Amino acid sequence: MKNTKNDRTLAPARKPTTGRSRQEGRSQPQVADLAIVGMGYVGLPLALQFARSGVSVIGLDIDPAKVEAINQGRSYIRHIAAEAIGELTQSGKFSAASDFAKVREVGAVIICVPTPLNKNREPDISYIVNTGKSIAPHLQQGTLVVLESTTYPGTTDEDLREVLEAGSGLKAGIGFHLAFSPEREDPGNPDSNVAFIPKVIGGFTPGCLERAKALYGKAIKALVPVSSCRAAEATKILENTFRGINIALVNELKVVYDAMGIDVWEVINAAKTKPFGFMPFYPGPGLGGHCIPIDPFYLTWKAREYGQHTRFIELAGEVNTAMPDYVVQRVGAALNAQRKAVNGAKVLVLGLAYKPNVDDDRESPSYVLMDKLNESGAEVSYYDPYVPVVRMTREHPHWAGSRSVAWEKEVIARVDVVLIATNHQAVNYRELAAWAQCIVDTRNAMAGIPTAAGQVWKA
Ligand SMILES: NC(=O)c1ccc[n+]([C@@H]2O[C@H](COP(=O)([O-])OP(=O)(O)OC[C@H]3O[C@@H](n4cnc5c(N)ncnc54)[C@H](O)[C@@H]3O)[C@@H](O)[C@H]2O)c1
Repeated sequence: MKNTKNDRTLAPARKPTTGRSRQEGRSQPQVADLAIVGMGYVGLPLALQFARSGVSVIGLDIDPAKVEAINQGRSYIRHIAAEAIGELTQSGKFSAASDFAKVREVGAVIICVPTPLNKNREPDISYIVNTGKSIAPHLQQGTLVVLESTTYPGTTDEDLREVLEAGSGLKAGIGFHLAFSPEREDPGNPDSNVAFIPKVIGGFTPGCLERAKALYGKAIKALVPVSSCRAAEATKILENTFRGINIALVNELKVVYDAMGIDVWEVINAAKTKPFGFMPFYPGPGLGGHCIPIDPFYLTWKAREYGQHTRFIELAGEVNTAMPDYVVQRVGAALNAQRKAVNGAKVLVLGLAYKPNVDDDRESPSYVLMDKLNESGAEVSYYDPYVPVVRMTREHPHWAGSRSVAWEKEVIARVDVVLIATNHQAVNYRELAAWAQCIVDTRNAMAGIPTAAGQVWKA
């Protein structure tokens, strides 16, 4: 905890719902109580939750298409209803813009921008730094800035603080408040509600923490204050590392048990009946999404600065990144059993999204599978009801513009293997069993569905 003494010099915490205690720099009528920067998978639902709770929100994003969609009451995220956005934009509680000068008119700013890895698999905090540069000139005495993007310990009180102080001429903890609060969004889970997910918060000073608690308390039921921004940053990394390591464990067991003729899915389902001391994790074709494959390596990178090594993280990464090779090997075995080769085979990858029932294909292992099969000479197509067309990405530009095949008997029956990479609930697996010649199943999606002998290969 830093600058505890300086906290006494802080301006009194402003009420985010009124913004009336603004002391200087206000030249226009207030646009909102709160600005949320980054209207993506994290920022948009958070904005809706605050707006629903009576805190007026302006969403700031550099993507004009998202700004336009919000202001027209349209949704661009499958599991967020357009009505939810439209209702709040019409009531005046929610709007969007690209103009960062709006920060002058709000009491608090929450940052939810991407934190990817660069091509050398090192943290790329440029989105955070650029956001800091954009908002700094507009910070006012007493503005609260909270970072929510997942990142290594030290980002908020070192990297972001430096940019904000340099651009605003104000000092953190004295001129403006600074905090970190990790997002725990669970996209696609209908039982997940932002309001009821406890929110961990760490402040740069005790005063910063109080200010952040006052803000989040308006929209979130349970707050979990911790001693510093770093403790809050480290909490999020622990949560995601825990998942990554446990997924690696079951991925490794999948391969070992398969060699022994044991079905790992049956074993996990039996083990999870233990009422204490066990939590089920499930194997898959490799890690995907914006969090689990990336966040632990933020810590790995930062730990080196302290002469520390994150051996569990590295080992889990090694096991998880080997999964697509294992799956491709299983596809080869399934084809071999039909006297076919991967080279020249028609392979349909079912599911491009990295997890079921969402349209998010970032870091999806499906692309790795498609690349590997393609390199081996397979003719690759895909089906995903939520990703009709592949958008342009830095990692897989060669798949951009590819279109999902139609879900039709003739299309499915024509391919040599259907490779289930994502188990979307909307897919009719009975039809798949009736139509497909051969299925390689990485998600146990065919469990309980009658299939012909030798038709389904688990991978
Ligand atoms: N998606 C999840 O389930 C999830 C869960 C927990 C934490 N997180 C973390 O939350 C953060 C955001 O993730 P996301 O999934 O919402 O990302 P996203 O890509 O869906 O959204 C990020 C948004 O930020 C915008 N943006 C980028 N740079 C900007 C800038 N300089 N100024 C303004 N806007 C900018 C982009 O246009 C985009 O709309 C990441 O750190 C991620 O690791 C994500």
